[in-house]
Amino acid sequence: MKVGIIGSGTMGSGIAQVAATAACTVKIYDTNQDALDKSKISLEKVLARLVVKGRIDETEKSRIQNNISYVNSLKDLGDSNLTIEAIVENLNIKQKVFSELETYVADDCIIASNTSSLSIASIAASLQKPERCVGIHFFNPAPLMKLVEVIPAIQTSTEVLDKATQTISDWKKVVAVAKDTPGFIVNRVARPFYGEALRIYEEGVADFATIDWALKSLGGFRMGPFELMDFIGNDVNYTVTETVFTAFYFDPRYKPSFTQKRFSEAGYLGRKSGKGYYDYSEGAVKSTPTEDALIAQTIFDRVLIMLINEAADALFLNVASATDIDNAMTKGVNYPKGLLAWADEKGIAWCVDKLDAMYNEYHEDRYRCSPLLRKMNREGKKFF
Ligand code: NAI
Repeated sequence: MKVGIIGSGTMGSGIAQVAATAACTVKIYDTNQDALDKSKISLEKVLARLVVKGRIDETEKSRIQNNISYVNSLKDLGDSNLTIEAIVENLNIKQKVFSELETYVADDCIIASNTSSLSIASIAASLQKPERCVGIHFFNPAPLMKLVEVIPAIQTSTEVLDKATQTISDWKKVVAVAKDTPGFIVNRVARPFYGEALRIYEEGVADFATIDWALKSLGGFRMGPFELMDFIGNDVNYTVTETVFTAFYFDPRYKPSFTQKRFSEAGYLGRKSGKGYYDYSEGAVKSTPTEDALIAQTIFDRVLIMLINEAADALFLNVASATDIDNAMTKGVNYPKGLLAWADEKGIAWCVDKLDAMYNEYHEDRYRCSPLLRKMNREGKKFF
């Protein structure tokens, strides 16, 4: 299969590596020669590291490298069977690139976007044949993260969706098919992990280190929400939340936090700036949690129930199947368990009681229980 990648930044380079490893012939195009050079150098480094680790041998390394070429004209992608765009997150620019690309490729070439936040329908609308457009959303770093969300737009043909899904499975990724709605699965369902943790902090229930400790020790999350926000970057994470909030017509459940906004404005971006919720400078004193079992349980229950509610509501609104929603969270963001399976384990009645208790306490729409959980509770059903 011939694959064209548009944009040789973080995502484009990672996706190219995945496709080349799966024996595709890959061309990467970028308007910036520096970006192309960097992509080539970074691939060499990544593959050399895999050789040292014994994951691939020199022959495999050369095979992958030989499968990739770097081009500086969009026209060069003309013979592709599949193109995946990973350029700047700007609808106008993406639309321009897509309509130009369509003049070079064959009628049956699939034109995909790796966008995180734009609607696939709006990107597809720039094409003469919008039915060939589909969202193929990888996670960073693409070669390591197992999950890929495949998003059909309302214009996408079944044939294109099936082909895209088959190709991504052939690339040894786990596919979750998501409806073309803001945040798709992962960036929607994960919001409360950050949002509720920030809210708990803002209420003065506990400090960052204690909240992180509670979620890691009781929930088995690899990183606490504040560690994770520092890792992602507060500016990036804040923007995702704000984009999802706006796209959902200001549904209060996705409301961004002033704490994160201020941290972002102050330049406390996290690891990349040396300071975020934690201090990463040399010799900095490590924050220690207050290891209070009761507070930890309150924190964990509150974040977990908000995550479960979000996952249940995504299922209620047919964003994806229950299996895909659970796979998305375990394979896309390494959650220790799928949220719907977690709900089954805790008991649907427990979920409804917890949410109703929070709603009664706060009288905020943010804490409304998904109608699906309520219905399942009435009918004594489980997700799986
Ligand atoms: P990046 O900034 O690392 O790379 C973007 C590349 O696109 C740059 O090399 C730039 O020179 C090139 N570019 C810009 N305009 C272009 C044009 N008109 N034609 C050709 N090349 C052009 O960005 P990154 O992080 O790789 O993101 C790319 C896309 O992937 C965005 O749509 C983003 O939302 C999405 N995405 C990003 C993730 C992440 O964690 N960084 C995760 C999943 C999706």
